[in-house]
Amino acid sequence: METVNWTDALLTGVDEIDAEHRYYFEILHRFNKARADGFDPRRLRTLLNDLLAYIEMHFRNEEAIMREVGYPAFERHIAGHARAAKAIQDTFAADPTDAQVHEFLNSFLSRWLINHIQSEDRAFGEWMERSGKSV
Ligand SMILES: [Fe+2]
Ligand SMILES: [Fe+2]
Repeated sequence: METVNWTDALLTGVDEIDAEHRYYFEILHRFNKARADGFDPRRLRTLLNDLLAYIEMHFRNEEAIMREVGYPAFERHIAGHARAAKAIQDTFAADPTDAQVHEFLNSFLSRWLINHIQSEDRAFGEWMERSGKSV
């Protein structure tokens, strides 16, 4: 999997959301390290499940914050989360091979999620700042 690193370009300015995004990168690093060390595949699947559970928990927290402050693009934002959650569930419900898991990690975790933070989540942070809202 491509190495993906945290950068301040990913900051939204909403502390709770940023802390969760940073933690996500930490888990991702642990996961990549475990893979590079040639971990037992069952252990890798456990780590992968933890990572995916964390992403879904983060979606719920982020949505709760957006709902609380009355974010106007809330519906569109949660639709994006829902599509991603479904992609995760569909991929893993189909009992993927290791190659399919690898492909999913490259396309979803390294690209979709980082794009989402950079565009959609940051748009929320900018809206918060413009409207003088805080949580
Ligand atoms: Fe997020
Ligand atoms: Fe989001």
